[in-house]
Amino acid sequence: METQNLYETIFKRKSVRNYDITPLDENTLKDISNHLNNLEPLHDDIKIELKIISESDVNRRFMKKVPHYIAVFSENKEGYLTNVGFMLQQMDLLLSANGIGTCWQGIPKPKKEVLKSSNLEYIIVIAFGNPNEPLYRTSLSEFKRKPLDEMSKVQGAEEIVEAARLAPSATNSQAWFFAGDAKIIHVYALKPGFIRKLVAKKYIPIDVGIALYHLKLAAEHFGKKPQIIVDETAPDSSKQGYEYIASLELL
Ligand SMILES: Cc1cc2nc3c(=O)[nH]c(=O)nc-3n(C[C@H](O)[C@H](O)[C@H](O)COP(=O)(O)O)c2cc1C
Repeated sequence: METQNLYETIFKRKSVRNYDITPLDENTLKDISNHLNNLEPLHDDIKIELKIISESDVNRRFMKKVPHYIAVFSENKEGYLTNVGFMLQQMDLLLSANGIGTCWQGIPKPKKEVLKSSNLEYIIVIAFGNPNEPLYRTSLSEFKRKPLDEMSKVQGAEEIVEAARLAPSATNSQAWFFAGDAKIIHVYALKPGFIRKLVAKKYIPIDVGIALYHLKLAAEHFGKKPQIIVDETAPDSSKQGYEYIASLELL
């Protein structure tokens, strides 16, 4: 699989929910498996396990049939969900850039045997396979996203934040906020309210990890050498109800 064009893919990717359920060929699956073993972590001290499983290994709930899933397991440590988002978004873009449909899916659950096959905590699956619908969006207007000024007060690096604006998120909640300038971008996450804490609190940190990866990719595209740091002295976002997650230094 080609690893170029990941930045360009940000501007056309979409979640694919209709699949040709014919399995991908062995070579493609091997290639995907190799890439899964070489994803860049956000926190390299957190153990993660990624398994390619098939349709029959999963209770789909009400989601449509899918030939393959990546099942994600992780050690439960500070920052682990953001780490999952950051790592697996690399796969979402890579598969999409190579003509394979993907969709992050919180709703389906792997069957017991799969859950028992790892010592780590089960986090989420990502569906993938040949798409039975258009793989790409043809224009930016097809992205349902909040405008930039509702999620960012970054000045001087707007084109980098634009890539994060287009990132996928669970129920498209886009629960992130960005502040900073041309030297550093601070990333914040919405603090979940009572209801969201009960039903979906694990998804916000995953979503923020996904957006962080888009930020990093865009910064590299614009010739920067970005470094992600957690800076406890980072300024508080002026937006109420959000909490600090990490910063991207634009060196
Ligand atoms: C963490 C996460 C969980 C998701 N879970 C589901 C899911 O269970 N079912 C589904 O159809 N889509 C799911 N999605 C896809 C989102 O609905 C989708 O990314 C969002 O609506 C934006 O649309 P786009 O990805 O086509 O740009 C999930 C996305 C993320 C990031």
